[in-house]
Amino acid sequence: MKQHKSPYKCHIFVCVKSRDEGRTSCGNDGAEEIRSLLKSEIKTLGWKKVARVCESSCLGVCEAGPNIMIYPQRIWFSEVTVDDIPEILQAVEDFLDEK
Ligand code: FES
Repeated sequence: MKQHKSPYKCHIFVCVKSRDEGRTSCGNDGAEEIRSLLKSEIKTLGWKKVARVCESSCLGVCEAGPNIMIYPQRIWFSEVTVDDIPEILQAVEDFLDEK
């Protein structure tokens, strides 16, 4: 095993878990579109080397979804819609500006 320091200042985990059995899930409530738009915006803003958008499976709070967690800042966004993307990007920019 090798241990490395992450090259990213923040990892943006977007839960995209979908459930077929009728239970609430982020993936059934627009999470994939949110993930895709966030990834696209991060690229457009030139942050690809410092902020990483990742798909996540269930984060354990399905009823509050769609959910996004940002680490290592330990920030959690819930009930996210595409309209919230500018606010999330602003938070990420603030994290990137931190020393
Ligand atoms: S399905 Fe997203 S938190 Fe459970």
